[in-house]
Amino acid sequence: MNNLSEYLVMIPGPTNVSHRVMQAMTTPIINHRSDDFRVLYKQVREKSQKIFQTENDMIILTTSGTGGVEAAVVNLVRKNDKIIIPVNGEFSSRLSTMIENAGGIAVRINSNYDEVPSIEKIEEAFEHNKDAKALYVVYNETSTGTRVDWLNKAADVTSKYGAYLVVDAVSNLAGDDLPVDKWNIDICITATQKAIAAPPGLAILSVSKRAKEFMINNPPNTLYFNIPRFLKYYEQNTETPFTPSLPLFFAYNEALDMIIEEGLENRIKRHKICSEAFYEALESMGFKPFAKPNARSRTVIAVNYKDGMDDKKFRGLLSKEFRVLVAGGFGELKGKVWRIGSMGDVNRYHVLRTLSAISAAAHMLGIRIDNDGVSIADEKLKSLNH
Ligand SMILES: Cc1ncc(COP(=O)(O)O)c(C=O)c1O
Repeated sequence: MNNLSEYLVMIPGPTNVSHRVMQAMTTPIINHRSDDFRVLYKQVREKSQKIFQTENDMIILTTSGTGGVEAAVVNLVRKNDKIIIPVNGEFSSRLSTMIENAGGIAVRINSNYDEVPSIEKIEEAFEHNKDAKALYVVYNETSTGTRVDWLNKAADVTSKYGAYLVVDAVSNLAGDDLPVDKWNIDICITATQKAIAAPPGLAILSVSKRAKEFMINNPPNTLYFNIPRFLKYYEQNTETPFTPSLPLFFAYNEALDMIIEEGLENRIKRHKICSEAFYEALESMGFKPFAKPNARSRTVIAVNYKDGMDDKKFRGLLSKEFRVLVAGGFGELKGKVWRIGSMGDVNRYHVLRTLSAISAAAHMLGIRIDNDGVSIADEKLKSLNH
């Protein structure tokens, strides 16, 4: 065993996991081909529908978020299918490559990384590619701290062209507005280790009726991520085709209960307020958020480094001296930005302790801070009423 003392985990996933959820993982092992599991699986599926705000079928895969995204690609994209995809960071770029790996033609709509391609650009792309099969969108680009602000209108465009709408919401579902049925999303993907506040290891997908029909009539060339196979096993026996990670199912079930107890709406509001507290406080400290104001994520706060600030030293100090973990940038933004994951259980304590540690670490490194940010954040956090 290791002797790590607890960190405050403020990276964009995995996030802090409550003892209640961790404890659920010590539930004794059950047979995954028994009624014990069938009852659990059914409950978890139904509760997942609640947090996705959908009546669609749910798929729960024992894999990280990438596996869920890959499943959403290999089950829907076929050779030479044209897929429109806004690209403004590492995850959307990765997704466009996955589409090509599956034989599709990725029609990339690029924008600067500090913003999001506009809905008008997406419409234009459909105008030029009327036969496009789907729009794949990374709702919250974790690598850049940006968020698509037109997702509620995306289906107006896709439905005009009979295209599918697929959404990677790995880093914001359960912490941001995302009514899957209201917004007509065909496939929506998330993972357990971010706003859901459970350990990493499960990916969850909702699949609409028409996406399901396509997959059943055009089975994918994959065994493990085969969605029709998952659906069949659920319908016939309420089981999964392969051995599920039982401890993660127990943990996810508990995390779902906690979300439902808090109320999804309250939880989404809490995320919004905490992110606003971070943005306002950091700006008052003289830090510049990376994303343009209308593109700012509500769960991932990406911040530019101040001149002379060293990524390794700053984050090392935060981790070693203050046991607060924040993330660096990656891909094109490595060394240029740092990122705070403001999701999951995030609340007043997390925001204020993180800001205090940032302020102290900056002071120790001789970086000028205009204001400690704490009182500004605290003022904002007063509107959290639960
Ligand atoms: C938007 C987005 N998509 C996909 C992934 C991949 O998830 P995982 O690292 O769990 O495989 C991540 C992970 O951070 C993400 O933020």
